[in-house]
Amino acid sequence: MPLNPDRMRLCIRSAVENDLPALESLDAEAFPMEPYPPFVLRQHFDVCRGHFLVLHDEHALYGYLIATPPYGGLSWILSLGVTRDAWGHGWGRRLMTDSIRRLSSERTQEIRLTVHPDNDRAVSLYEHLGFTQEGDIRKDYLGLGKHRILMTLKLPDSAPPPPRTHPSAPSATGNADRRGGPPRSW
Ligand SMILES: CC(C)(COP(=O)(O)OP(=O)(O)OC[C@H]1O[C@@H](n2cnc3c(N)ncnc32)[C@H](O)[C@@H]1OP(=O)(O)O)[C@@H](O)C(=O)NCCC(=O)NCCS
Repeated sequence: MPLNPDRMRLCIRSAVENDLPALESLDAEAFPMEPYPPFVLRQHFDVCRGHFLVLHDEHALYGYLIATPPYGGLSWILSLGVTRDAWGHGWGRRLMTDSIRRLSSERTQEIRLTVHPDNDRAVSLYEHLGFTQEGDIRKDYLGLGKHRILMTLKLPDSAPPPPRTHPSAPSATGNADRRGGPPRSW
């Protein structure tokens, strides 16, 4: 579908609770084979807050990015997705640069992510942003047959990171099956 020129007025902001239903659809569109269950999106929202970003206009969401708050100077980008009709207009890059800027302002020293080895578009984006591959392809990284590349971006030193303390966790749900989301398949 051709991009509506109005889409060029998209903005990036932190996600709010009311975004969660739309984020489910957006995530399912970006990752049709492995959408996050709603509870994982909910938990990422609770934990990541100001680092859970959405790309939007006044009508809808067109992209999102989830990064963990920096912990001991390290942050993980867990997921990045843009609606198919908005691809190729620099929105993926904008989400990434906005997240990197926010993380950088919080004394993050290193950002990590994982990506599927065949996801050329995403790998190219990350490389152009300065991410480098760490080692060889990680076989079965996210489970049997789910190989991933680990990529890292080192940020310039500004100040020492805060001491490592346990980040506050979302309230326990009491369901033994529930787990936090792993680094996402890129
Ligand atoms: C990966 C993704 C987020 C990129 O979003 P996007 O809005 O198309 O990103 P951009 O327009 O900023 O372009 C990203 C890169 O794609 C490549 N690209 C852009 N337009 C392209 C085109 N027409 N043909 C081929 N590659 C293209 C470029 O390498 C570009 O990087 P650069 O700007 O540093 O050169 C999007 O394709 C997506 O949501 N994919 C499905 C989910 C996914 O794979 N997410 C990432 C891993 S989890």
